[in-house]
Amino acid sequence: MQTSTLKHLAIIMDGNGRWAKERGLSRTKGHEAGAETIRGITTYCASHHNIETLTLYAFSTENWKRPKLEVEFLMKLLDRYLKSELETYIKHNIRFQAIGDISVFSKSLQKRIIDTEDITKDHKNLTQILALNYGGRAEITYAVNRLIKDGKNEISEDDISRALQTPYEDIDILIRTSGEERISNFLLWQLSYSEFYFTPTLWPDFNSKELDEILNNFKQRNRRFGGL
Ligand code: IPE
Ligand code: IPE
Ligand code: MG
Repeated sequence: MQTSTLKHLAIIMDGNGRWAKERGLSRTKGHEAGAETIRGITTYCASHHNIETLTLYAFSTENWKRPKLEVEFLMKLLDRYLKSELETYIKHNIRFQAIGDISVFSKSLQKRIIDTEDITKDHKNLTQILALNYGGRAEITYAVNRLIKDGKNEISEDDISRALQTPYEDIDILIRTSGEERISNFLLWQLSYSEFYFTPTLWPDFNSKELDEILNNFKQRNRRFGGL
């Protein structure tokens, strides 16, 4: 039987707000519960399934449209999360990296992100990439502009792949929680031959048991990449 190898898993972590609403809680409580799930899933991936990279969509270029108070809360939560996670990154030998335009974040949050990247840069078990103020179109546009600035006047697919902020393996599997079945401007370039899984589970309820089921199913899938 076919066994697909899994290097790069990406997740659109959706449904925090609905999880909170179902419980009569504020949306912020949903985001806090979602942050706990990130911790659990990340540490699980560090020691199971031989996953090399886990890319998580945490804040999109479109999420600025949300109420100011929710956006402010998410920025504070991110700072708090990275501060408390450092111990986890060290204990589980996890490298942290960010993609997206973080230059618009507060100076202290930018410092937290860059410091966490620096401290964990030699960690080898798993790379956890958080997509922060990330948009797939913005990433491609930025890459092309960079190539033009470098003096290129003819651009190949390889050039674009290398100029992206996510110059890693293409995505093997994309999971989206909460029942929505769309990409919402995530990793447009890197998803060209990914397997997709949509689960109705809201992100705070997502757990390693469901991840196992999805990944075991993935391993049986026959990925043809256009061949036979
Ligand atoms: C995902 O949960 C987290 C972010 C986009 C920051 P949502 O906040 O989108 O939750 P729903 O979709 O409203 O339930
Ligand atoms: C996608 O979720 C972005 C993140 C999970 C960070 P959204 O909840 O923002 O997506 P839409 O608006 O439902 O497409
Ligand atoms: Mg949502």
